[in-house]
Amino acid sequence: MSVAIAQRGAVRMKRMIDDLLVFTRTRLDDALPVDFTSRGIGRICNDAADEVRASYPDARIDVRVTGETAGKWDRARIGQLLINLLVNAVQHGAGNISMDALGHGGQLTLVVSNEGNPIPAADLPTLFDPLTRASRPPRQIGPSSSMGPGLYISRCIAHAHNGTIQAGSKDGRTTFTVQIPRFPSHVL
Ligand SMILES: Nc1ncnc2c1ncn2[C@@H]1O[C@H](COP(=O)(O)OP(=O)(O)OP(=O)(O)O)[C@@H](O)[C@H]1O
Ligand SMILES: [Mg+2]
Repeated sequence: MSVAIAQRGAVRMKRMIDDLLVFTRTRLDDALPVDFTSRGIGRICNDAADEVRASYPDARIDVRVTGETAGKWDRARIGQLLINLLVNAVQHGAGNISMDALGHGGQLTLVVSNEGNPIPAADLPTLFDPLTRASRPPRQIGPSSSMGPGLYISRCIAHAHNGTIQAGSKDGRTTFTVQIPRFPSHVL
C-alpha cells in the first residue's frame, strides 16, 4: 500500500517537473524542442493511460487505437500531452473517459473525451492561453484546484508537432481533439 502511495507521488512529481520545464522554456522563446523518433501510437496511449491509472486507481479509461498507428513524433511529449488531457478528464470531468487514436493517411487524430459539467462556451476561446481557468469553480479543493498551465503546455506540444488542439463541450460531454501529421515532413 505505501509503495503504491509513494509511486503515485512520484508520478505526480514527474508530471509537475515535465510541465514546468515546457512552461518555462516556451515562455522564454515560444519554441519547444522536439525529439522525433519512431514509435507506434498505441504504445504511447496505453502507457499514458497506465500512468494516470497509477495515480487515480478509480479512473475508468477506455483506450481505442485504430488505423495506421506508425509515426514519428516526440513520444515523451505526446505522452505528456495525453496525460495532461487524461488528468483533466479525471479532475474536472465525471464518468468514464475515452481516449481514441486514429491514424489515417498522413494524419493522426487523438481524442480524449469525458462526461460531466461542460466548459462554458465563453471560456473556450481562452482555454489554451497560459494561466487561465474556466469560470466554473473547481470541483474539489486541494492540489487539483491549482490554476495550471496544463492546456497551454498541451497546445505547445501540438504546435511543436505542426499540429492543432481543439476543445468542444456540449450535451454533457467535453472533448479534446489533437491532430498531428504522422511524419514530421508532412504538413496537415
Ligand atoms: N476535461 C475537462 N472537463 C471539464 N473542464 C475542463 C476539462 N479540461 C480542462 N477543463 C477546464 O479548463 C481549465 C484549464 O485546464 P488546465 O489543464 O490548463 O489547468 P488545470 O487543470 O486547472 O491545472 P493543471 O495545470 O494542473 O492541469 C481547468 O481548470 C478546467 O476548468
Ligand atoms: Mg489540467
